[in-house]
Amino acid sequence: MCGIIGVVSHRPVGGDPATNSGVGQILIDGLKRLEYRGYDSAGIVLADKGRFTSKKATGKLSALSQAVKGNMPVGNIGLGHTRWATHGAPSCDNAHPHFACDNSIALVHNGVIENYQTIKTKLAKEGHKFRSETDTEIIVHLIEKYHKHHPPLESVRRAIEHLEGSFAIGVIFAKKPNILIAARLNSPMIIGLGDKETFLASDIPAILPYTKKVIYLAEEQIAEIDASNSAHRVNIINFKGRKQPCQVSTVAWDAAGAEKEGYPHFMLKEIFEQPAVVRTTSRYYLDTKTNTVKFPALTGMAKQLSAVNRIVLVACGTAYHASLVGKYAMEELCRLPVEVAYASEFRYALPVLDKRTLVIAISQSGETADTLAAIRAAKAKKALTLAICNVLGSSITRDAMVTLYTFAGPEVSVASTKAYTTQITAVILLSAYLAKLRRTLTPKDEKSLVREMLALPDKIEKVLTLNDMIADYADKYKDVTNFMYIARRYNLPNAFEGALKMKEISYTHAEGYGAGEMEHGPLALVDDTFPTVAIAVKSNVYDKVISNIQMVKARKGIVIAIATEGDKFIRTLADGVIEVPETPEILSPILTVIPLQLLAYHTAVKKGRDVDQPRNLAKSVTVE
Ligand code: AGP
Repeated sequence: MCGIIGVVSHRPVGGDPATNSGVGQILIDGLKRLEYRGYDSAGIVLADKGRFTSKKATGKLSALSQAVKGNMPVGNIGLGHTRWATHGAPSCDNAHPHFACDNSIALVHNGVIENYQTIKTKLAKEGHKFRSETDTEIIVHLIEKYHKHHPPLESVRRAIEHLEGSFAIGVIFAKKPNILIAARLNSPMIIGLGDKETFLASDIPAILPYTKKVIYLAEEQIAEIDASNSAHRVNIINFKGRKQPCQVSTVAWDAAGAEKEGYPHFMLKEIFEQPAVVRTTSRYYLDTKTNTVKFPALTGMAKQLSAVNRIVLVACGTAYHASLVGKYAMEELCRLPVEVAYASEFRYALPVLDKRTLVIAISQSGETADTLAAIRAAKAKKALTLAICNVLGSSITRDAMVTLYTFAGPEVSVASTKAYTTQITAVILLSAYLAKLRRTLTPKDEKSLVREMLALPDKIEKVLTLNDMIADYADKYKDVTNFMYIARRYNLPNAFEGALKMKEISYTHAEGYGAGEMEHGPLALVDDTFPTVAIAVKSNVYDKVISNIQMVKARKGIVIAIATEGDKFIRTLADGVIEVPETPEILSPILTVIPLQLLAYHTAVKKGRDVDQPRNLAKSVTVE
């Protein structure tokens, strides 16, 4: 997954002397805000007086910033790219942008061209010379081939007809410095409409400082921005060449929202945003006057939803863990059979689906390749499809019949935190809505659940006050080589999520297990060299978890318990206790995950890890 930015501007070619914010600086700054999408190499290219000047560097974006220091290319149009390698190792040759043989065309790409090898062989036979191992490079040579007889837009359109896989591309032509072209298939691309300047980007933060007016390019669309005069013209066509409407939206976020606001890492900022974003998300789906749930977006399909006889939740990673919480809630409230599937498995399985199956895809980015493929497979089988997503206009919102948004705001850290708690919030309230439709939830129970949900943000705030204590636990156990996480029922997904957080940012091995499974094998691992984190909040399985904790302690295991405030007994058992306020079991995962997020965060910081951009990972896995 990579980050792309492009701009055509009427700023002074050498940059505005007052702010030195020429096109080149816009590209570098934009790439910095996209670095979470990939960061193994980067490059920019600008066109001036009919010629391209390009700079590339391997490693983090700071290497490219260094390369252009005092040596910034000039021009009124340019492209930038930060890479997460899929074909070809990180190197300057493989870094984008890529160029036509005669250096007349430059291109940047996010995605994977699945049939690139066949095309590359054919183009090579036609005399094209390749400088990289990438799949991307074949696109610019295809455009070059068609540009000999066609104008820019048509040459891009004809080139695209050959491509299979996923792509979001930006294209510029050295001899046509007023034409900027963007196109997309299965990868995100937005167009930003500034003041006498127009942008293209993979994601909103890259262009937020310059404009909040955006066009979300839809699947199979190509946009041509013509900046021949200061009133830039945007022309959108589909892959068949038919003109498409330009729908302009206004972004609710601001540039600061995408920055760290004084926190040392985006992850910590996003952990501390959870009271606010859980509040925003829950209130969006609640009528606080009547203490009832409301899903106006589902009114049109209420009849179909009432007839549903089975639910399947599909997702990846953290979103998969939120789906597991959804399973418990939907089975309890809706009294329906609920399955949860890894999207990467679901898309290749042979699921039995029909029009009475409801398939719900959960995805923070709305761009995860496996989850997109899963929901498309569900649609093909005529199942009802919903998405729970955090990014307006993302690909999944165009695939699902209806999208239910979480309102977590931009989640920049690769490790998902606030998206997770807002996904759980949304999936629990959706469960209540579906149960209402099926008359398996009484008005009294609905009101009680809503009241408890409305009280949750203050309880999250309270858990966050334990940050320093949790940092102390991290300090105490930062050198262990294993962590075990155990829980039952609604909190079992958090055993998996806590382990995932620990693994993905501190690189320490961690494993989540059903507490009841310990005797079936994992207990053999237990000794005094690593801690077991046990979620043992008040619930109808509390006693069972206590007995599992006792099993661990009997083998000299170390136990850190996540317990309900005021639980004195557990203090006689565990080596450490982190208390969370009492709340109904169905809502407890939103509270019990907070200490697990903070434990992983502080452990990673104390181990000197790159918390927001952990090795080998990217924020959104938009390729398989
Ligand atoms: C979790 O911390 C990871 N960032 C990862 O597992 C993520 O949850 C997964 O890739 C799914 O992403 P999505 O929600 O954007 O689809």
